[in-house]
Amino acid sequence: MKKIVIIGASSGMGRKVACDFARLGWRVGIAARREDKLREIKDMFPGRVEYMTIDVTASDAEERFNKLIELIDGMDYMLYASGCGWSNPELDTSHDEQTIAVNVLGFTRMINAAYKYYKATANLNRGHIAAITSVGGTKGIGTSATYSASKRYQWTYLQAIDQLAHRQHVNVSVTDIRPGFVDTALLDKRYPLEMSVGYVAPRLEKAIITAPRIKYIDSKWAVVTALWKLVPDALWRRLEFDF
Ligand SMILES: NC(=O)c1ccc[n+]([C@@H]2O[C@H](COP(=O)([O-])OP(=O)(O)OC[C@H]3O[C@@H](n4cnc5c(N)ncnc54)[C@H](OP(=O)(O)O)[C@@H]3O)[C@@H](O)[C@H]2O)c1
Repeated sequence: MKKIVIIGASSGMGRKVACDFARLGWRVGIAARREDKLREIKDMFPGRVEYMTIDVTASDAEERFNKLIELIDGMDYMLYASGCGWSNPELDTSHDEQTIAVNVLGFTRMINAAYKYYKATANLNRGHIAAITSVGGTKGIGTSATYSASKRYQWTYLQAIDQLAHRQHVNVSVTDIRPGFVDTALLDKRYPLEMSVGYVAPRLEKAIITAPRIKYIDSKWAVVTALWKLVPDALWRRLEFDF
């Protein structure tokens, strides 16, 4: 029986992936801050799902993450799905602080904890670390400066951890999953090319299992991002987005 730990499983994409894997018979360890939402998922899948409240911005997050791994007797896969972000053209620093705390500090803490788990267990079966980042890391977005910068940080960090694993002979794959707009609580309005959670989830799950280094969800967003990368900075600064 496969075992997965999902951080950020109380809503949106993390919740859907947790429910889908539990339905398949996997043991699923779920975490986030809202206990009522986590308990609801555990009650839907008795014996398959365990939970631990974790605030990734808190100093006890790593200890609680390790307890969650113990609750499901090990971890074959880890998915980091926690995240936050706001459209912030007025540069409200409280939003910036929250975004950096979750998407940078919390992300780093949880990816490190997963890596150290695989390193310490010297696992014979390959371990997997996956994180939902975003196409938003492609270029700095003026109205979402901290969010886009935090996602670029996540891209770079995952690449670094993948290299570290190779160097330290740690048997783990590292996957950076980059969706475009998805209809979840994170978005405050409708956006172009928006995808439903139901459409995205099977693609996410395939990426978690097959473990490519980088996965764009979906092909049209891969094309959009490829074109986006080609936009020269002189033109990029003139474009008006309202993200
Ligand atoms: N929706 C999109 O358009 C989109 C596009 C590209 C990438 N993404 C990325 O996808 C990931 C998942 O987002 P989503 O769209 O599924 O949004 P969501 O429904 O808002 O889910 C966010 C999750 O993060 C958790 N979280 C927030 N702060 C946390 C904290 N301090 N400690 C632990 N968990 C925390 C939330 O749980 P609690 O509040 O219970 O703690 C929730 O489970 C994020 O990284 C987001 O940036 C989203």
